[in-house]
Amino acid sequence: MNKNIDLIYFSGTGNSREVATELADVLENCSVRLFDGAIVLKNSSYTPVAQGVTGLVFPLYFGAAPKSVFLFLEKCFKAGSLHLFLIVTNGLPYRFFIQSVNPLIHVIEKKGGNVFAVYQVAMPIQMSGFFEYPDVFSNRLLHEMKRRVKKIGSYVVRGRSFPYKLTMAGSAFSRLGQFVQLLLRMYGLGLEVTGACEQCGLCIRGCPVSAIVMDRGVRFSSGCILCMRCICSCPVSAIKPRRLKRFFSYPLYKLSSESRMEDNNSKISRKWSFFEKTISGYFNEDL
Ligand SMILES: Cc1cc2nc3c(=O)[nH]c(=O)nc-3n(C[C@H](O)[C@H](O)[C@H](O)COP(=O)(O)O)c2cc1C
Ligand code: SF4
Ligand code: SF4
Repeated sequence: MNKNIDLIYFSGTGNSREVATELADVLENCSVRLFDGAIVLKNSSYTPVAQGVTGLVFPLYFGAAPKSVFLFLEKCFKAGSLHLFLIVTNGLPYRFFIQSVNPLIHVIEKKGGNVFAVYQVAMPIQMSGFFEYPDVFSNRLLHEMKRRVKKIGSYVVRGRSFPYKLTMAGSAFSRLGQFVQLLLRMYGLGLEVTGACEQCGLCIRGCPVSAIVMDRGVRFSSGCILCMRCICSCPVSAIKPRRLKRFFSYPLYKLSSESRMEDNNSKISRKWSFFEKTISGYFNEDL
């Protein structure tokens, strides 16, 4: 079946980009347009796909969707009858976390859009100094990602709707996540640049809200929405949070499916075996 599909990803550490790209590959007989949400937002240049569907792919940071997704909806989302599906690429493979999309759904529906499916694709957590999966576990998630993306692809092509069930606890959780993000933006995670900076300008070009300027070196303005993009895209890891450094690991761990895949048969250490039991259901879900 030929279908027009727009995929727009919002990615800090690269996971959502990987999922969106994989999905674009799977949707073989469709007409797919793949967009980097940060660039779309920067240029405010999105014209929705005609008579098709739009998929938004994004992570969770501190329990909430990144502010860049909200800004995208505010600035670039115009068509009242747009049909959307959402893919949350978070780190913890518990279904409950899908509830974090709740505030986003409110915004979309307020603007006349319709969310026909919400999916979760858990991914290895990168760049997190306090919680990073062992390789063997990351491998399992990457294998599962491929299975899920294939399924999502077939559901999207068939137009299957996968409605999202809102719970009171989820609602409270998602608001809390937004609040935490706000606090971190205000008090915690302002960014600074180290002497390693080579003034290549890459971070400036990629910042979705133009919060970085070159003024005798790289400078950050208060408009930063903490999307993580510049931290991860800097080739020399010169961008760091001013405080709360232990949330971030350096040098950044780059996702490399091939090297991780090789290690898939090794055993999980004792430390992780309990955690593994709590998430076994994730690997058998029908989505
Ligand atoms: C600073 C930080 C905070 C995170 N907070 C959460 C969280 O609250 N819940 C969660 O499930 N995953 C969390 N994660 C994991 C990310 O959602 C996950 O790695 C995601 O796939 C990253 O997507 P991206 O690479 O496209 O930015 C966090 C990761 C980082 C680096
Ligand atoms: S991407 Fe890194 S090296 Fe390049 S200007 Fe920005 S901080 Fe400096
Ligand atoms: S300064 Fe960096 S983290 Fe902040 S909004 Fe721009 S790209 Fe994102």
